[in-house]
Amino acid sequence: MEAPRRVEHQMTDKGYVPVYTTTVVEQPWDQYTADDHRTWSILFQRQQEILKGRACREFLENQSAMGMSDARIPKFEELNQHLIKATGWRLVAVEGLLPELTFFQHLMNREFPVTWWIRRPDQIDYIAEPDLFHDLFGHVPLLMNPVFANYMQAYGAGGVRASTFGNEPLANLTRLYWYTVEFGLIRSEEGLRIYGAGILSSKGESIHSLESAAPNRIGFDVERVMRTRYRIDTFQKTYFVIDSFEQLFRATVDPDFGPIYYHLKGADSVPAGAVLDTDQVDQRGSGEGWLTDGDV
Ligand SMILES: [Fe+2]
Repeated sequence: MEAPRRVEHQMTDKGYVPVYTTTVVEQPWDQYTADDHRTWSILFQRQQEILKGRACREFLENQSAMGMSDARIPKFEELNQHLIKATGWRLVAVEGLLPELTFFQHLMNREFPVTWWIRRPDQIDYIAEPDLFHDLFGHVPLLMNPVFANYMQAYGAGGVRASTFGNEPLANLTRLYWYTVEFGLIRSEEGLRIYGAGILSSKGESIHSLESAAPNRIGFDVERVMRTRYRIDTFQKTYFVIDSFEQLFRATVDPDFGPIYYHLKGADSVPAGAVLDTDQVDQRGSGEGWLTDGDV
């Protein structure tokens, strides 16, 4: 078998351009260097500290239940033993970003693609694309939760179907993933908590999302979320708050989201920082530090 490649974004005169790959590889665990393991340890310890009292309980409990620790980069094989038993999901190692449809197909089959390589030491605080730390630390623990795991599979199945309907449904679905799986907040008895992987793997946004006065925090509504543009280059202007993972799963009960697309067809998209009359507003953001352009 060929050695797994490290497929990264390319820097061009138009900025970073994503490069896609579809190959599934064996995690080349023996190839990780001492620097790689150290990068994992530093990031793991730092986030664990920040996430106490900020990440949702399901994330923290499952992360230790599946044996993830700061000692070394985990072996996917070992994590899979826990994951398969808990929810029937398993991790597959990939070389970098996947094309949308390939990604949806993995989720539909209860496979979560994890980038095998980790950022370089000089990228500890920021990397533009998902690496091992983001994928594994941020996304994987919640796959141990049965309801969240079902949501992820339903999302993948919905994505496979949506890809036959054209661009608008796909944009709707991408926004749903962004504002839930990547940047979602959840209410709990202990208070507001983080469950989105984009936040959980970011030092700055873990604090910003919960404690800053700048962003909006708005109650989750699937159609509202599907209309809302987002930021890929800065902290989010708006976070959507769910009451429970059941609420999230219920949003997928019609598995192809067909009636929603029909309803949304031609509807205007909503700017990332807008607050609508119909919103259930937990916090209206002060807007401090917001850029006026660049919502996607
Ligand atoms: Fe992600």
